[in-house]
Amino acid sequence: MSLASASGSLLRSCARQQLTTSRAALASCQQSRGVADASKASFQSPFGSTTTKIPDFSKYSSKKSPRSNQVFSYFMAGSLGLASAVGAKATVQDFLVNMSASADVLAQAKVEIGLGAIPEGKNVIIKWRGKPVFIRHRTQSEIDEANQIDHTTLRDPQTDEERVQDPKWLVMLGVCTHLGCVPIGEAGDYGGWFCPCHGSHYDISGRIRKGPAPLNLEVPQYNFPTDETLVIG
Ligand code: FES
Repeated sequence: MSLASASGSLLRSCARQQLTTSRAALASCQQSRGVADASKASFQSPFGSTTTKIPDFSKYSSKKSPRSNQVFSYFMAGSLGLASAVGAKATVQDFLVNMSASADVLAQAKVEIGLGAIPEGKNVIIKWRGKPVFIRHRTQSEIDEANQIDHTTLRDPQTDEERVQDPKWLVMLGVCTHLGCVPIGEAGDYGGWFCPCHGSHYDISGRIRKGPAPLNLEVPQYNFPTDETLVIG
């Protein structure tokens, strides 16, 4: 046998063997697909034939027209809004009533004094909002003295007229404008008030004339509802 015929017969036998192997693989593949199809045909869902059941809400839906449903919705929204507004108003009102000054505090806010009980040339001290208030029933000579001063030369320039509503009555806080001591009446170099703490002298109009105090004694808010009555505050 020649070499060429030997190699030809070898190639033919290899090709035959490969064809046999391919047929066997195809048969095996078809067999496994058949098994899969068989198992698929027999699959049973654990949730039954229908997995999603939609409930029936028809008995809850309104039988009325859409317009009447809208009216009802608007009515409910409006009613709730009104109730909320009333509640909010009551809450704010209660809060403001609680925060406002009580009757005893309001009573302290104003003090009424009968002027008939204060003789001319005398001082009276009353307490108002926790502070002393000096009330002086001034004589005519004291009024003249207060007006003689050239106010432009004073440390805290004020005329006597600016400090009183009625020249006979001088009303001012009894608190030294230096460090808050209570000055002594009818004392000092100017016949008015003297603060012994650090030596401030106030004149008969309560203006600072000497010493460390920077300002005149403060004049509070007051009025005369009648000729014989003074109300401070
Ligand atoms: S507190 Fe009146 S002089 Fe100092």
